[in-house]
Amino acid sequence: MLREAYIEIAGRRLRYLYAGSGWPLVLLHAFPLSADLWRPQLERVPRGWQFLAPDLRGFGPGSSGSGIGSLDDMAADVPAFLDALEIDRAAIGGLSMGGYITMALYRAAPERFTAMLLANTKATADSPEGRAARDQMVALVNREGPSAVANQMLPKLLGATSHGARPHLEPLVRRLIEGNTAGGIAAAIQAIRDRPDSMATLERAAVPALVITGDEDAIIPVSESEAMHGVMPRSQLVVLPSAGHLSSLEVPEDFSEALGTFLRANL
Ligand code: MLT
Repeated sequence: MLREAYIEIAGRRLRYLYAGSGWPLVLLHAFPLSADLWRPQLERVPRGWQFLAPDLRGFGPGSSGSGIGSLDDMAADVPAFLDALEIDRAAIGGLSMGGYITMALYRAAPERFTAMLLANTKATADSPEGRAARDQMVALVNREGPSAVANQMLPKLLGATSHGARPHLEPLVRRLIEGNTAGGIAAAIQAIRDRPDSMATLERAAVPALVITGDEDAIIPVSESEAMHGVMPRSQLVVLPSAGHLSSLEVPEDFSEALGTFLRANL
């Protein structure tokens, strides 16, 4: 059964969702969403596992959106979260921004990982054009609020198949985006914009890793997943058909099956 709980870390109240019991897997959500992105996976936890999905700093219901800092600061909340739950090591991963944070965390605290999940994400840093586009989005959200970000991002967040055949997804994703504050979204865009290249981090990632994406991802091309898989010593690559950038939400059964197979085979 999926549950919601709150825990105090570093003087802040953090909301998380969890389900199952056993070996821990921490799931970090994409920008600009919340832990609720992972509900489909939390409803399909394999036997012997506990899945834990925290809201990232500045995101989720009740968050003021303040104190985001850098992706390294956001990553530092994960060991604090594990400590508060008395968990030493866990499989840790995320989708898109959640993946960027996973790589930042591996740089800082590799000893906390038993395995890594990198979904619809990339290890490369932003190009100058990409950084300029981030600045425009900061101006947009400061001017017009989270709905304007939803309007701009939704066409690309979901893949072509979802836009045509899964009409329930667009309002759901819009609701998650609009549940966040303009200040939190703006600060997270700046943190994402300033992230470093993580290829060298992945080259020395000694844990089993699942690199997973969708063949209709219009935000991060499949070639980025191939590049990560190409440098990681112990990775496996899965490209899900008919799935876009939010593959875990768009094809939840296929995503969860690939994840379960990976966890069973490697841990
Ligand atoms: C995300 O889904 O987390 C963002 O689209 C990541 C990004 O814009 O780089």
